[in-house]
Amino acid sequence: MTPATNTLAAAPFARALADKHLVLSPQALAAAVDEAHARTLACVADLHDAQFEVPLREVLNPLRWELGHCAFFYDVFVLAVKGGAPLPGRSGLGGLLDPFGERAGHGPDAHARPAAADLYDSFGVDHDDRWALDLPDRAATLAYMTRVRDAVVQRLAHAEPDPAQTYLHLLALVHSDMHVEAFTYMRQTLGYPAPPLPGVRAALRDHVGSTASSHGAGAWGGDVAIDAGCATIGAAPGAPFVFDNEKWAHEIELAPFRIARAPVTQADFAAFVDAGGYLDRRLWSRAGWLWRGRAGAPHPVHWQRGDGTWLRRDFDRMVPLEPNRPVVHVNWHEAEAWCRWAQRRLPTEAEWERAAAAAGDDRTRRARRPWGDAAPGTTPATTGASDPAADCTEAAARATLDALRLGCSDVADCAAGDSAAGCRQMIGNVWEWTASPFYPYPGYVIDYPYKEYSAPWFGYRKVLKGGSWATRPRFAYTTLRNFFPPHRNDIFAGFRTCALD
Ligand SMILES: [Fe+2]
Repeated sequence: MTPATNTLAAAPFARALADKHLVLSPQALAAAVDEAHARTLACVADLHDAQFEVPLREVLNPLRWELGHCAFFYDVFVLAVKGGAPLPGRSGLGGLLDPFGERAGHGPDAHARPAAADLYDSFGVDHDDRWALDLPDRAATLAYMTRVRDAVVQRLAHAEPDPAQTYLHLLALVHSDMHVEAFTYMRQTLGYPAPPLPGVRAALRDHVGSTASSHGAGAWGGDVAIDAGCATIGAAPGAPFVFDNEKWAHEIELAPFRIARAPVTQADFAAFVDAGGYLDRRLWSRAGWLWRGRAGAPHPVHWQRGDGTWLRRDFDRMVPLEPNRPVVHVNWHEAEAWCRWAQRRLPTEAEWERAAAAAGDDRTRRARRPWGDAAPGTTPATTGASDPAADCTEAAARATLDALRLGCSDVADCAAGDSAAGCRQMIGNVWEWTASPFYPYPGYVIDYPYKEYSAPWFGYRKVLKGGSWATRPRFAYTTLRNFFPPHRNDIFAGFRTCALD
């Protein structure tokens, strides 16, 4: 790559980072990097080698690939940023460190070995090709991750990060948060045991148990009515960290609507299944019916008929349905069919965000979450790393996040996290499908350097809001927009509904 090309690459990169304003201390960032590294390792540490080899499926990744990819992201977007742009590699982005143990470009076999970008760049390597890569073995992969972590922390010991550098650190941290959640739902897909995560507090885990009675906050039915008016949607410029797709806050005129105080429960969904909902063509969209037929789905993916009752697979064990917990692992088509059966509808993302607003929110100042800015159970809200000293009971009073309970809680739980409108669990428990396809906001501009985060996915995917029980607190806030294809039922997604007024 010539210097001239480098300059061209740096221009949009530097412009995009010019709107960053948050500065965090090197100590806070180093602690967050360390904690995120430990959490990522903990997602897979207990698995034996055979469990590391996973079958080629659309919703999975080879575990060694995904681990290396997390480290590669830090390598490319934190370590190897120079002169305002990421360094170029042999193919695409170039990391500073060699996944096989040498400094990049050095050592006797430097040119025979694949470069990090040849292995881990998710836009450079097709999904199905990841199984055919000559990936470092498990020990070498973990060693690469540790070398990257050490290099990042070491650099922080000699730096005072500016707003652009702080942003790049936070970008790498939330990227690892996304993959931590992906490791968790991949374990559910594969029928592996629940991950023994360090953030899981025994006292809360015991509440979950395997039966409905073990954590009995109960049901939380009914709607709240929201008046017609201007709703502010999107992130306000003062927000500590935002993705490009959240920029910027703008107003949308909403008609009056009524939205459920809580997500649809497993009991609610079982009534639909028992009424023959999966066999009634009239309840499904054309695309939904095609999916149902192709998947041969007679009920939600992890459900099984027991002796006169329904069971669901929770990681590696079958448990009775928990009637008051939200239904989870249903896709957008299933949510839509349930709505048609119940004569309800999915909220638009604007309605959802209006219902989740905190008291006093407006276009210039929006609370990060329905109860205020703080992420529950974390070190300062901006880094959002789990704080081992935090009072987990207090954290769990607002939201079921961060695998504190290793599963969902009842929909009546977390009263302290209610939004100003009176909606519960807008943050945590299950991601909530909305009716809205994922599109850019007015004036959208791609944020460099992770320019593939949003733009390739506009149009087909559906927006999900709020975060799940497995979401890290840093990645769970009101304006965040998650987005998945409508057929994905492996993620921790459920839904809440609006009345047909
Ligand atoms: Fe990624």
